[in-house]
Amino acid sequence: MLLLPLLTLLSVVSADWQFRSRPDLSPPQLNITIPATKDASPGYLFAAPFSGFPDNTQHGPRQAAPYIFTDKGELVWSGFGLFSIWATNFQAGRINGQDILFSFEGSHNPAYGHGHGHITILNNRYETIRELRAGNHKISDKHEFHIIDEKTGLIQIYQPVPADLSEFGASKEQQWIVDAIFQEIDLKTGQVLFEWSSLDHVSPSESVLPINPGQAGSGYNSSDAWDYFHINSVDKDQNGDYILSARDAAALYKIDGKTGDVIWKLGGIPGISSSSFREQNPFKFAFQHHARFLSTDGKKQTISFYDNSAHGSEDKGGNEIHIADLSSGKIVEVDTENWTAKLLNNYLPPYDILSKSQGSTQVLEDGNVLVNWGSQGAVTEYTHDGDVVFHAYFDSGRLGDKVENYRAFKFDWHGYPTEAIALFSEVTEKGETIVYVSWNGDTETKKWRFYSLNSDDERTLLGETERSGFETILRLSKVVKERIVAQAVGKSGEVLSTSDSVISEKQVVQYVEKENRYNLHNYPLRDQSPMQTGH
Ligand SMILES: *[C@@H]1O[C@H](CO)[C@@H](O)[C@H](O)[C@H]1NC(C)=O
Ligand SMILES: *[C@@H]1O[C@H](CO)[C@@H](O)[C@H](O)[C@H]1NC(C)=O
Ligand SMILES: *[C@@H]1O[C@H](CO)[C@@H](O)[C@H](O)[C@H]1NC(C)=O
Repeated sequence: MLLLPLLTLLSVVSADWQFRSRPDLSPPQLNITIPATKDASPGYLFAAPFSGFPDNTQHGPRQAAPYIFTDKGELVWSGFGLFSIWATNFQAGRINGQDILFSFEGSHNPAYGHGHGHITILNNRYETIRELRAGNHKISDKHEFHIIDEKTGLIQIYQPVPADLSEFGASKEQQWIVDAIFQEIDLKTGQVLFEWSSLDHVSPSESVLPINPGQAGSGYNSSDAWDYFHINSVDKDQNGDYILSARDAAALYKIDGKTGDVIWKLGGIPGISSSSFREQNPFKFAFQHHARFLSTDGKKQTISFYDNSAHGSEDKGGNEIHIADLSSGKIVEVDTENWTAKLLNNYLPPYDILSKSQGSTQVLEDGNVLVNWGSQGAVTEYTHDGDVVFHAYFDSGRLGDKVENYRAFKFDWHGYPTEAIALFSEVTEKGETIVYVSWNGDTETKKWRFYSLNSDDERTLLGETERSGFETILRLSKVVKERIVAQAVGKSGEVLSTSDSVISEKQVVQYVEKENRYNLHNYPLRDQSPMQTGH
């Protein structure tokens, strides 16, 4: 009878036993439906997948957390356990010459799409070096942290405030509205250099979601405040002006960096609210995310963003509004001499994907474009001209249901973990020794060298093998009774670190290597119409 709980535990563990040296880790397994081609950009994928169900146990990633992967789907770093509660918007960056990682960390309210917490900053040894909070007694939201010139950070806040909302169709009891705020913060001193409040500059009448539908809050109390604007990204250009994406106004706004005045507005929904541009070649977008300045040339600016074209709350229930059948990554050019806006590129998904929340579009240094499909839990890489060179779902099908991922990025990254090398060795019934080694977050090891140690600590080389993904396995056709150590060897043959020694254990469960369990397949693509670009 006593055996039963133990057996149950074993079968649960082996159900997601991806790494023999790290049975504690259950990262999402990317379902790569279009393997990276030679035209895919170099760099690692950065993402923080989480479950779209309110309970986080039975669906989606077992360990929702920030992750670094290769575009072959191999884990590089699991941030699980490092962040408490919930983390999102995970990226690499630089602050004052130092390579860093950052992520939002805090609580998550999927019904309203809000978060409350701070930005956690790690060094390239994966140590927390800073927790950054918004200033002026306001609590940071999850959507944005963006570093400008390595020196300042843009952060946003949803601040519920009481107001008379009767002119916007509210009853006497409906008197709470969300003031969407952003701040620019000096990253050395934490000082707030600039603060902008939506209620000072944009009337609630510009919202495309009225106060009653239960989608953007109905204003009865501060937790249910009407989220009329919903800033989800902020960037700053060379002239010192800002661009923000306001999802619930379905528009991008350019903000004067000195006065805070609205310089222009692109978007809005005809019949509800207007745009500053008379659109040269008609395109529409709505409920967009992640607007970034790409370049400025006199009176012309190009901007990238993610166009959801759909709205709905992040958790499963809730009404949805659609203005198109597919979401997309977009690059537009605005001309503020003739007040025209032009669609330069439109990156449509390779499958039928329409995401009702979240999403990002990153234009990479070589011009490739990484589009992350938010609530649909998928990512696609394109060449600049729109050829698909990679597509993956963050868990899907039998791997995990209903995974979501707010933003995804590709970055060059070098990680030098302070955590120890993980080593496990087992002896099979047939008399083989199998040694498993991994080092969470390490990007520098090229090969692994294994030694046995006798009682005088004298080493005998057991073997050497090229690094293969997160975990490298060495098979020996003999029983090794001595202690074993593993050495991480870098690209010039230098020893980066040596593990603690382990004694081989008797094999309990036969470990099934990942390759055998999980194969890549090609899935039929959506009918490809030519990329819709503006001429
Ligand atoms: C706030 O209002 C919403 C909508 O009417 C309601 O569901 C919720 O229970 C209220 N919360 C509090 C704390 O009163
Ligand atoms: C505005 O239109 C005029 C007339 O077509 C043209 O000469 C000018 O270059 C345009 N401005 C920009 C910034 O393209
Ligand atoms: C991968 O994604 C495809 C397309 O959505 C799905 O049909 C398939 O079941 C997934 N594969 C696994 C192993 O979950």
